[in-house]
Amino acid sequence: MAGRLEGKVAIVTGAASGIGAESARVFAAEGAHVALADRNGQLLEQVTSEISRSGGRAIAVRTDVADEVSVKNLVQQTVSEFGALNIVYANAGISGRFDLESVTAEEFDRVIQVNLRGPFFCAKYAVPRMVESGGGSVIFTASELALVGSPNASVYSASKAGLIGMARGLALDYAEAGIRFNCICPGAVDTPMLWGEEKGERDEIEADISSRMPLGRVGRPDEIAKSALYLASDDSSFVTGHALVVDGGWTVR
Ligand SMILES: NC(=O)c1ccc[n+]([C@@H]2O[C@H](COP(=O)([O-])OP(=O)(O)OC[C@H]3O[C@@H](n4cnc5c(N)ncnc54)[C@H](O)[C@@H]3O)[C@@H](O)[C@H]2O)c1
Repeated sequence: MAGRLEGKVAIVTGAASGIGAESARVFAAEGAHVALADRNGQLLEQVTSEISRSGGRAIAVRTDVADEVSVKNLVQQTVSEFGALNIVYANAGISGRFDLESVTAEEFDRVIQVNLRGPFFCAKYAVPRMVESGGGSVIFTASELALVGSPNASVYSASKAGLIGMARGLALDYAEAGIRFNCICPGAVDTPMLWGEEKGERDEIEADISSRMPLGRVGRPDEIAKSALYLASDDSSFVTGHALVVDGGWTVR
């Protein structure tokens, strides 16, 4: 049976770890040719080789999404390797907890640069190539914290809420060109980012989050990757400008 992304070319950013790595694996397993992008070159090569060894078509393109030239290069390398571009999953992001009175301008700018400007420039350079390729799907990883507050997360929340607004605007701008823009809003997902952000022992943090989570556990990266697959594939052909919440029920309480 043909995969759900057979014949498609995809870029996944933040593909060296967590949600991005799992999404790159799922996209490749569903038949896409995948360009994996991350600033962590060593891990990126490992994930890319693993996909190639399992029979997928994948290239690693070391990229800093905060750097416009690097993003432009990512799109160029992808199209020169695979000849088209249909799917962009702009997923790379950083966390950051700062209080209003001590946060510096540099810290503020860094979160916005990676989490908001990065995805915008991915779209900027990818979209013309996607139009040439006959249309496609752009997905941004926002967060449940785009929708609800959390202590000292105002800058992170602003960056992620910005992605939802950006996806809605671009969804209208490019509807006629056949390019859909959507966000995924994950809740707590078992990745290095989650465990790096919270203070304390991992088991204790996990037990605490799980006890407050309606579905009783943290999410797995593959549960976000499958949502990305839905938004990347023609299964979501009538869905654009949407923010898909995948959070175990955290935001419905
Ligand atoms: N894990 C969670 O609980 C959770 C919840 C909501 C949203 N998110 C979002 O999901 C996305 C993926 O995070 P994850 O949980 O898989 O974390 P992760 O730390 O496992 O992966 C993030 C990846 O992004 C890469 N990255 C960071 N800055 C980059 C840059 N400037 N250029 C290129 N690559 C860069 C990192 O090297 C890393 O490989 C992020 O946007 C994050 O904000 C995560």
